[in-house]
Amino acid sequence: PKTLKEAYKDYFPVGVAVAPRNLSGPEADLIVRQFSSITPENAMKMGPIHPEPDRYAWEAPDAIVAFAQKNGMKVRGHTLCWHNQTPQWFFTDAAGKQVTREVLLERLKQHITDVVGRYKGRIYAWDVVNEAVPDTGKAIYRQSKFYEIIGEDYIEKAFEYAHAADPAALLFYNDYNTESSTKREKIFQLLKKLKAKNVPVHGVGLQGHWSVYEPKESELQESISRFASLGLAVQITELDVSIHAKEHGRREMTADDKSVLTPELLSKQAAQYEMLFKTFRKNRGVLTGITFWNVSDKSTWLDNFPVRGRKDYPLLFDENLQPKAYFNRIVDF
Ligand code: G3I
Repeated sequence: PKTLKEAYKDYFPVGVAVAPRNLSGPEADLIVRQFSSITPENAMKMGPIHPEPDRYAWEAPDAIVAFAQKNGMKVRGHTLCWHNQTPQWFFTDAAGKQVTREVLLERLKQHITDVVGRYKGRIYAWDVVNEAVPDTGKAIYRQSKFYEIIGEDYIEKAFEYAHAADPAALLFYNDYNTESSTKREKIFQLLKKLKAKNVPVHGVGLQGHWSVYEPKESELQESISRFASLGLAVQITELDVSIHAKEHGRREMTADDKSVLTPELLSKQAAQYEMLFKTFRKNRGVLTGITFWNVSDKSTWLDNFPVRGRKDYPLLFDENLQPKAYFNRIVDF
């Protein structure tokens, strides 16, 4: 049977989010065989890579980039500016007082310049700003520390700093729930504004944390077309297809949390992945990358979200790293 990277070589790179522990043994073999791109799942985020003002933790991100280079894979960087996984020191001075706009901008600039600069020419695309738009309500900007302290222009500044540090890198705005019409429209307005101001934004990342129940084909197509109409490249950056219906705010397991991949759910998942990849293929040229969020069902972030310890089976490879029964339907078309 074909591999993902062979099947899609004339369409887009197929990538996977990794941690350093995935880069040896059978998982490494699977990654090299199937994928043409990798993304650090956590290692390049502000907290992990820049734990203290004067200290960067380069070991893990360096190892991931070196693995990619050794195996002829592309690297998507993730992420330069996010409200999550950002260390407290970023926003406070030595006395614990909140910093000014000027200080925070200077820190953001230094951070982006150092990180993008280190991997200049080796990371072809960056998620520059991640999840800056709230899910509900009319407001376009999430009330994050960056927004509170700097104001809405922290977003364009982040893109400008990244562009200055590596003018050849493709710069993305990345978000989830991009198929919900209200959030899609807010993101569209934000990107339109950035484009009108000539901010160096080149693409939009639709995370693609989906389920066997959503999105519908029409919703996905609408998102791709709408963002493409701004002249942006579109990538699916964090693909997985949960077997669970989406729930918000749930933190406890309940009796109907059946963490079992039944034949019925497996066939729903097969149909959903078939629909997704068919739609991706139809958008050849516009869709310039697909990245899965984690390697296999052996371990996925969804095992702990939104309910800690509720197992999920969202990927194409099972707990034994074997392709699922329907895999050939994704690579033979
Ligand atoms: O590194 C610490 C470790 O030292 C500690 O012992 C352990 C105990 O819990 O935690 C470890 O950190 C965890 C980290 O993953 C590495 O495993 C954090 O608690 C945990 O919160 C963190 O979760 C990550 C999450 O982002 C954080 O919000 C997930 O792995 C990662 O898959 C997830 O990825 C995000 C994307 O970046 C953005 N889009 C949504 C996506 C899913 O949430």
